[in-house]
Amino acid sequence: MRILGIETTCDETAAAVVGDGFDGRGEILSNEVLSQIAQHATYGGVVPEIAARAHVEVIDRLIKRALDSAGTKLDAIDGIAVAAGPGLIGGVLVGLTTAKALCLVTRKPLLAVNHLEGHALTARLTDGIAFPYLLLLVSGGHTQLVAVRGVNDYVRLGTTIDDAIGEAFDKVAKLLGLPYPGGPHVEKEALSGNPERFALPRPLLGRPEPNFSLSGLKTALRLEAEAIAPLSASDVADLCASFQAAVVDVIADRIRVGLRAFAEVAGHPTALVVAGGVAANQTIRNTLQRFATETGLRLVAPPVALCGDNAAMIAWAGLERLRLGLVDDLSAPARARWPLDTRGDEAGARA
Ligand code: KG4
Ligand code: ZN
Repeated sequence: MRILGIETTCDETAAAVVGDGFDGRGEILSNEVLSQIAQHATYGGVVPEIAARAHVEVIDRLIKRALDSAGTKLDAIDGIAVAAGPGLIGGVLVGLTTAKALCLVTRKPLLAVNHLEGHALTARLTDGIAFPYLLLLVSGGHTQLVAVRGVNDYVRLGTTIDDAIGEAFDKVAKLLGLPYPGGPHVEKEALSGNPERFALPRPLLGRPEPNFSLSGLKTALRLEAEAIAPLSASDVADLCASFQAAVVDVIADRIRVGLRAFAEVAGHPTALVVAGGVAANQTIRNTLQRFATETGLRLVAPPVALCGDNAAMIAWAGLERLRLGLVDDLSAPARARWPLDTRGDEAGARA
């Protein structure tokens, strides 16, 4: 089976071809990603209108490039998967309309994939792991603990009650004068900083529901920064290190609680899985590895290139859905909000 995947929900235009590999894994035949970061950087965040226009300009060429570098043609594709949300609606419409047009012309099945399902199933693409597993999804728009029980079967155990972790990294970076997107810059600064210099809060630590809260931490950091302004280079490094240390403590505590909640809805997990752009953070990965070793769990952390937004994960989720006959028709809607756990009231405005 070979699936073409398309991703346009935020600031990456992406197209990929994925096939089924061996041992339950997938095989990535091509994975093209064009980041728009440079076009948004001067605004300090993603501008929806600019994003949608930029997707339109490159999507056709990118799909062609993905097919070419996979050594295949549209004719030989078994289905076309597209992220139909959640995300910035203008961008989602570009990808979805393109996918529908291709399906209409080629008469291939359309697979309208939830972007979050793409992140959630990436560990099966890379490692072929079995259900159920505990997923920590950490991106610029989402921070969730999810029991992944099967394709299309997700239980959201906890979420952030304010900012997403990636969003907090980005806001902290902005506050300290670091470039956008801030996560990688904060991580780099933290390497040379003292994580104990500032005693920042660990919001919700020890609370029985596995939810997250980041806004108090961000405010506490702002107050510390204002109190010692103007900031020297080592002040910035120490603030970043102290912030990251607080985030890491919160994540470890919340996963511990999440694991208990997991047992109630899904039994024993086959693995602890991390996904989303923030999963690129090495300190966070190390903490998760320590936690996994302590609890006897296997940690599956996809390669950094597959943690951020990409179309291989969309193609793979489409492949898993097609195998189960979960095909969509041309009336599939574009959704700005689309909870992964449809039993809950979770709503994501960004992907
Ligand atoms: O999943 P993603 O590529 O896009 C969204 O769907 O949001 O995640 C992007 C987010 C940004 O907030 C970015 O700052 C954060 O992931 N991020 C990081 C790191 N690399 C990216 N956060 C912390 N440390 C990193 N190394
Ligand atoms: Zn994402």
